[in-house]
Amino acid sequence: MPPATADKTMEKLVSLAKRRGFVFQSSEIYGGLGSVWDYGPLGVELKKNIKERWWRSMVHERHDIEGLDAAILMHPKVWEASGHVSGFTDPLVDCKQCKNRFRADDPKIKGTPGQPDAQCPVCGSKGTLTAPRQFNLMFKTFMGPVEEQASVVYLRPETAQGIYVNYLNVQQSSRQKIPFGIAQIGKAFRNEITPGNFIFRTREFEQMEMQFFVKPGTETEWFETWRTERMNWVKALGIREEKLRWHQHGPDELAHYAKDAYDIQYEFPFGWQEFEGIHNRTDFDLTNHQQHAGKKLEYLDPKTNEKFIPYVVETSAGADRTTLVVLCDAYKEEEVGGEEAAEGGDTRVVLKLKPSLAPLKAAVFPLVNKDGMPEVAHKIHDDLRRHFNVFYDDGGSIGRRYRRQDEAGTPYGITIDGQSTQDQTVTVRDRDTLKQDRVATAQLVAYLTQKLAG
Ligand code: GAP
Repeated sequence: MPPATADKTMEKLVSLAKRRGFVFQSSEIYGGLGSVWDYGPLGVELKKNIKERWWRSMVHERHDIEGLDAAILMHPKVWEASGHVSGFTDPLVDCKQCKNRFRADDPKIKGTPGQPDAQCPVCGSKGTLTAPRQFNLMFKTFMGPVEEQASVVYLRPETAQGIYVNYLNVQQSSRQKIPFGIAQIGKAFRNEITPGNFIFRTREFEQMEMQFFVKPGTETEWFETWRTERMNWVKALGIREEKLRWHQHGPDELAHYAKDAYDIQYEFPFGWQEFEGIHNRTDFDLTNHQQHAGKKLEYLDPKTNEKFIPYVVETSAGADRTTLVVLCDAYKEEEVGGEEAAEGGDTRVVLKLKPSLAPLKAAVFPLVNKDGMPEVAHKIHDDLRRHFNVFYDDGGSIGRRYRRQDEAGTPYGITIDGQSTQDQTVTVRDRDTLKQDRVATAQLVAYLTQKLAG
């Protein structure tokens, strides 16, 4: 897709996200905070549905994975042992002229930073870019009242470390045997130098991570198993398969902890990018924690009496990036004809979200605000909301109301018309096919339950 179109698609998506209450810029009334976003009423539901789906498939449906919710703040030695203090860095260059900062590998920089030929991509000055310096991406803060080096703590840059330091607590309390996993969903923070593309790369984000502890020598097999499992999970979100691909990390891309890594990439409007990674982390993390903490982190195999430090296969997905994948994949602009065009105009913007992921499952509309229709509609709304997240809308023409719900991705529109007050039936409009079924009010819960499964 040419860049101009790509920019427009993202612009349109960001604007829809604000208009319909999916995502707002953080602290917008103060001019916003760089690359930090807030989820509105529909966004919080969509992201929650994705996280719940992940939790269900990774924890509830498996006998060999336990859940955990570790704290964001951890002992600072954790990040020395994990290699993040020394190795979680990006090379950074400064422009001495305009004082802007860039990643040294920013494709907009012409020439070699530190050399006279290098040109600043913002002010255009030549020879003003410094040689690259390593910049740590962890946010620092202070614990307790004294702001000194000894009280520095970090906001976690990945949730994984909370799992490693608890792995024996979880294993022993849940009586799991290797191979087994620990799953966690939670916030992570990175002081990214070049964040951007809406919720794609932000400084505060949520991860859905699972660490699978295996016997050394079996990690390659488990790595392949988890690659298959995770791709199947992503496809089941309803993402178009031609927009998904694998990318294996080359030696210069591998994180400091990984021996092998594959990303699941999606073709965003701004190009192919990762939104989940499967990593073979070997015994790197546990060995380092054992050394730094001076505590044995070996597993005792109850059958063979063997002691060993397990190897770890990690699946690491971003909840926000997965939400962006789902939004990008669902966004459509369509021509419509017939009655729909007459009522709401001949083009529509629609989010074709998988119904089980949609924030609102149905919207209830009295055709007009008289003749007993609002009373019937309120009763239906009250009954339905005990089962699903549903919305009541009596504002404006029915065509406009349909269009608002199309943009919200609401799969079903329930209209109460003159006939409804006579025979206790309603029309149910399908967001994608635009077909309308006449359904008995008493059957609505069963009708929607069947449609929303999956
Ligand atoms: N524990 C391994 C780990 O953190 P990662 O590849 O650095 O691996 C995993 O991150 C996932 O977390 C990414 O695929 C992405 O979905 C999400 N992620 C990482 N940095 C992010 C950021 N700055 N903004 C939003 N999501 C991010």
